[in-house]
Amino acid sequence: MTAGGPSIQDDPQWWRQAVVYQIYPRSFADANGDGVGDLPGILARVGHLRELGVDAVWLSPFYPSALADGGYDVDDYRDVDPRLGTLADADALFSALHANGIRVIVDLVPNHTSNRHAWFRAAIAAGRDSPERARYIFRDGRGAAGELPPNDWPSHFGASAWSRIVEPDGVLGQWYLHLFAPEQPDLNWDHPDVHADFENTIRFWADRGVDGFRVDVAHALKKDLSEPYRDEVTIGVMDEYPLDGSHPLIDRDDVHEIYRSWRKVFDEYSPPRVAVAEATVPAPRRALYATEEELGQAFNFDLLEAPWDARRFRSIIQENLSISADTGSSSTWTLSNHDVVRHATRYGLPRGTDLDAWLLTDGATPPLDRERGLRRARAAVLLLLALPGSTYLYQGEELGLHEVADLPREVLQDPIWKRDGGSRKGRDGCRVPLPWAPDGPSFGFGAKAPHLPQPSWFGSVAVEGQRGDASSTLQLYRAAIRERRALLAPERLDWLPGDDSVLAFERPGGWMSVTNFGQEPIALPPGRLVLSSVDLEGELLPGDATAWLVREQG
Ligand code: BGC
Repeated sequence: MTAGGPSIQDDPQWWRQAVVYQIYPRSFADANGDGVGDLPGILARVGHLRELGVDAVWLSPFYPSALADGGYDVDDYRDVDPRLGTLADADALFSALHANGIRVIVDLVPNHTSNRHAWFRAAIAAGRDSPERARYIFRDGRGAAGELPPNDWPSHFGASAWSRIVEPDGVLGQWYLHLFAPEQPDLNWDHPDVHADFENTIRFWADRGVDGFRVDVAHALKKDLSEPYRDEVTIGVMDEYPLDGSHPLIDRDDVHEIYRSWRKVFDEYSPPRVAVAEATVPAPRRALYATEEELGQAFNFDLLEAPWDARRFRSIIQENLSISADTGSSSTWTLSNHDVVRHATRYGLPRGTDLDAWLLTDGATPPLDRERGLRRARAAVLLLLALPGSTYLYQGEELGLHEVADLPREVLQDPIWKRDGGSRKGRDGCRVPLPWAPDGPSFGFGAKAPHLPQPSWFGSVAVEGQRGDASSTLQLYRAAIRERRALLAPERLDWLPGDDSVLAFERPGGWMSVTNFGQEPIALPPGRLVLSSVDLEGELLPGDATAWLVREQG
């Protein structure tokens, strides 16, 4: 079954300069009123996506899951969580998106299954040294009775990366590796069943018309568990990774064999299916995942991690564009996703604020300058959308949403909060269900009580209120995506002169983007003004603002 109309099937290179909108399905729109967003909810809001003008959506996991990690603990890769709908609902959604010219990217979570996955249950039941256990990473513990984990590796979410199981005979037994939560056992990518099963999953969704895949934790699938184990392994601290593929858990050279074989599967389809790696490794290593022989693209989180600083932005852009040119990939740009504090909020806090510590104060200290944060966020998205390559947007940023920093502790769902002994609140503040209407019990999300509570200020930024307001952030996003489509040019830029607080560049065809990171107004270059993130007075661009202009020919 292949969903979709022919109109969007014809450009195999569509992904190179696409605007992709990430949907976190449980928090987007709730059609059945149970408090959790669902696929029919997304279907009912396809109009919003069409009006926004995005080229594709990336759907975070909607598969059956106990939600130990927001759906990234997958019970069955080839089904839909009954709370979110059915496979028929998925087909209907893909068709509706395609009919509106919007492509579909789904999330592939290959590093780990959930602990409720049929394979993991079979592994526990079958006992030690069984073929079922070989699909995961089981080891005996240290200590006289195996009571200590095999080594001291930490998990991303805090505490040990090993958990001990109860054997079928009721006694405590072996340990299994989980780089994330204990409910997310890591697969053994040296096992042929694992390779075969993921190729089946890719074909399953590609056959249903899915256009591409976002590959979760793409850098961690292959591991070296030879003994003696390496001590003091750091996980998640990018700067400490060696750049030579020698880390036992992260970014090993042999992981690339997996993506070369997936490329063959993607290329069985016409147009070939596309992919984007989530590989949180430094730019030169990240590029290895993004070659044409592998996944084609990799997320670039460098700007997402950067302060609001023109020089920093410029060096990141320069580095990534030259790496893309060398590898034949296209660059990706993003400011927010479901794992980080929303960027309107980051830009409204003093530079260098420890975001985890700030969340623990419920957003009280240091105080957030909401207006400044939003003003910079509006400037930043125009800058991103003018860059060569793809831009990935996160649901709600088109409303200028801030982080919900004051979620009460008792409603937090993120395993980071639970596993890290309350020292980090985690990622729920960017996953609060979207406000569609200015009032009502869930601001139009659907249910009376959404699965995470919305703050009262959500009503003032709801989609409906912004729709009719020409100066709203929603209207800025719509105008920017529309103009971008008209101005889109080959994947190059030339830097224009400007002082250290200005980032100005020109794309082929005369499309210029000028961002003033400073506070003093600057003169704009001559040209026809297309769009600006703030109202302009005369030919001056105020601070924390971006303008797009087109150079007048002749
Ligand atoms: C996802 C996270 C998730 C983790 C484990 C990440 O890359 O974006 O949300 O917790 O992978 O699957």
